[in-house]
Amino acid sequence: MARLVPGATVPGMPITAVVNQKGGVGKTATVAHVAGAIAAAGGRALVVDLDPQGHLTDALKVQEATGPATLAAALTGEWTGKTPELIVGHSTTAAGGALDVVPTALEMFTVSRTLDQMRAREHRLARILAGVGDYDQVLIDCPPSLDIITDNALTAVDGLLVPVQAEDSSLRALRLLLSQVAAVDADLRETPLHLHGMVASLVRRPLTTLARTVLEQLDHLEDLPLLGTVPLAVVVTEAWRMGQTIATYAPDSEHAVVYRELAAVLLQASA
Ligand SMILES: Nc1ncnc2c1ncn2[C@@H]1O[C@H](COP(=O)(O)OP(=O)(O)OP(=O)(O)O)[C@@H](O)[C@H]1O
Ligand SMILES: [Mg+2]
Repeated sequence: MARLVPGATVPGMPITAVVNQKGGVGKTATVAHVAGAIAAAGGRALVVDLDPQGHLTDALKVQEATGPATLAAALTGEWTGKTPELIVGHSTTAAGGALDVVPTALEMFTVSRTLDQMRAREHRLARILAGVGDYDQVLIDCPPSLDIITDNALTAVDGLLVPVQAEDSSLRALRLLLSQVAAVDADLRETPLHLHGMVASLVRRPLTTLARTVLEQLDHLEDLPLLGTVPLAVVVTEAWRMGQTIATYAPDSEHAVVYRELAAVLLQASA
């Protein structure tokens, strides 16, 4: 299979935060499976587990970092080594792609408290990722909060991918998220964040009338296109359990198609 963007040279490293302060909306699944789609197509993808819950580290069944080289220690300045030392390999693909991971560490739970006391605290992740190496896409799995850790992600990335659920509460959550994005744009960034769009995740089928109504409302949000719909299905939980991505666990599934399309959107944005 050819690379999604053959020979693309990217101006800087394309980095995307998968973000929504609402919990359980499919952020971690989106990161894992979009990255898997990039690797399956021959690209090099790096995923960063910025969530102290460590769900991405668990989903990909890589070891938690135990130090001294951990993302947590890099964020707080307790470790000042080279960024590639934080990276572990998950898999390589027949197409020549690779999926690498910056796993979580237990100390991530105290990072936000430490960062709150520090100067230039919102730029710590950006500095770490500047030394990450050569990737077609870096995807950051954000925690379900709008704290200093998420501000670090919003400051470090080029664009945002926002998983949402087809629920009424999603609309209010989005307003809150977008106002935080506007604040970070105004105070912390030189260039505005690019909003790639939303992914409706964990969508039950058949669609209820309520879910259909919310999806229609989401589809009409200005500046935030609805890029895809991922149905609720056991194949996603099975892949997680096996430490695989949908691209290898169920390459012919409709889920694989959606994640490939999302991968193409991200890669085209940086081409
Ligand atoms: N399409 C799907 N079908 C079935 N289960 C799914 C699907 N997508 C995600 N899940 C499962 O739903 C749960 C929540 O998904 P996920 O962890 O990706 O959400 P999240 O937004 O990252 O959650 P958190 O806010 O806690 O970090 C997980 O157990 C995941 O395995
Ligand atoms: Mg998560």
